[in-house]
Amino acid sequence: MPTAVITGASQGLGRATAHALARRGWSLIVDARRPDLLAGAMAGLPDVTAIPGDVTDPAHRAQLAQAASRTGRLDLLVNNASRLGPSPQPELCQYPLAELSQVYQTNVFAPLALIQLLAGPLTTAAGTIVNVSSDAAVDAYPGWGGYGSAKAALDQVTAVLAAELPSLRCYAFDPGDMRTDMHQQAFPGQDISDRPEPEGSAEALLRLLAQRPRSGRYRASELTEPAVTQ
Ligand SMILES: NC(=O)c1ccc[n+]([C@@H]2O[C@H](COP(=O)([O-])OP(=O)(O)OC[C@H]3O[C@@H](n4cnc5c(N)ncnc54)[C@H](OP(=O)(O)O)[C@@H]3O)[C@@H](O)[C@H]2O)c1
Repeated sequence: MPTAVITGASQGLGRATAHALARRGWSLIVDARRPDLLAGAMAGLPDVTAIPGDVTDPAHRAQLAQAASRTGRLDLLVNNASRLGPSPQPELCQYPLAELSQVYQTNVFAPLALIQLLAGPLTTAAGTIVNVSSDAAVDAYPGWGGYGSAKAALDQVTAVLAAELPSLRCYAFDPGDMRTDMHQQAFPGQDISDRPEPEGSAEALLRLLAQRPRSGRYRASELTEPAVTQ
């Protein structure tokens, strides 16, 4: 049975991805900081190991790696958990550097640390790393410099890993706008009901896994039904 580690699976894109993979028979190892939300989100799924914790905590990451090692197989790591930073987001000239450090800890260092722990089993399985990115990594929106520069760093981490680990697929995946807590946090007080639900982006991520194009950066909107060129 294929096995995936998904971070931040209690809601939003992580939850939708976990459910989409579970429907296709995957075994899952998942986390999020709030245990009750995580347990509720995973209720009813057949083969889930839920490990509450914070991806920035090395001891928690070691627990995820131990769970993966117990399964004896790891095909996929989805680094989905992310931190927006302060809301509303400050412009860079006013950005509190202690907050920026936390954004980078969650969005860059924790994903790389998990990759360092899990690269061995992922390589054995000729598996896949998905680092969830954002359009803010490539477009320069005022106020998005903290989160966006961290996602840009994650994109470059992904690109270099792809060159260093040619037996794996390493994807930066831009899910597009989604109606989630993080999106509401980014647009405080605004009506975001016109944004699509995260399930559509999760299905695009599943198409990326199924089509298995070369390593690179992919937008959910590009991952339509026809096969992506290898
Ligand atoms: N929503 C959008 O429009 C949008 C657009 C572009 C990219 N993205 C990206 O898509 C991904 C998913 O975002 P989303 O909108 O689905 O967010 P979300 O609904 O806010 O969910 C975030 C998930 O991550 C968990 N999480 C947050 N910090 C964590 C930490 N330090 N350790 C472990 N788990 C943590 C949260 O649970 P706890 O709070 O309980 O830990 C939750 O399960 C993120 O990488 C985000 O940057 C989102």
